[in-house]
Amino acid sequence: METGADRTLKYLQMKKRKGEKIVALTAYDFVTARLEELAGIDIILVGDSVGMAVFGHENTLHVTMGMMLAHTSAVSRGAPATLVVGDMPIGSYENSDEQAVATAVRFISEAEAGAVKLEGGDERSASRVRAIVDSGIPVMGHIGLQPQSIRKTGGYRVVYSDKKETMASEALALQGAGVFAIVLESMEEDLARYITELLSIPTIGIGAGRGTDGQILVVNDILGLSGDFSPRFLKKYAALDTVMLEAFRTFITDVRDGGYPDKEHIYPAKDQR
Ligand code: KIV
Repeated sequence: METGADRTLKYLQMKKRKGEKIVALTAYDFVTARLEELAGIDIILVGDSVGMAVFGHENTLHVTMGMMLAHTSAVSRGAPATLVVGDMPIGSYENSDEQAVATAVRFISEAEAGAVKLEGGDERSASRVRAIVDSGIPVMGHIGLQPQSIRKTGGYRVVYSDKKETMASEALALQGAGVFAIVLESMEEDLARYITELLSIPTIGIGAGRGTDGQILVVNDILGLSGDFSPRFLKKYAALDTVMLEAFRTFITDVRDGGYPDKEHIYPAKDQR
């Protein structure tokens, strides 16, 4: 039987063929997921960026399966008609193909995700992807800047065309292993375009310029909820920090000054209704 996720995967392929852009955002909670679905987003990623966006960590290295499953299940309930992708956190898939499959199954059975994502394009990553895909679970790849590897690579670094051969062979290896799409993170525009043209599956860029098949951004960043985090690729579509701060301040003043609760906010006695 064809599932909603199957239909979305076909739809993404169709968009690539027609040259229509795929639009994705992260989400970490029910309310945000519901609004993203209402707005018509193609894919929701429950990224391990939850570590920074929700838990206030400096990077994604402290994210656990417990966090990922709780947030993915909230998002799945908020966006039941959208492809929800659960991001496999550090330590949950590196050891063996069996570990990777067991982790992916938890995302599907416990958190109702439609697919999973993992970082890396080397031989080991391709083997993990193949094992998960063979178990019947769709996988999204992720190459270029890999936040789970910052200790190895020495930080958050943009990938340039001098890495063209490595990037191309990683992208082709992931495609061969069966991923349905690949995230290209922080990449020179020409390199991302080259990889996109090389592949038959869609690429989804973040900080990878205009030549990818789609774009993904972190929802807190576009809403203006990430403080002064302002990388070159980011466009902010709202200033919710200002809106929230104003609401909190007004509530505090209201309560202190007796402006809240007012007459219309209280339950009157039964005989006065
Ligand atoms: O964790 C995340 O939000 C991601 C996106 C940046 C692609 O991996």
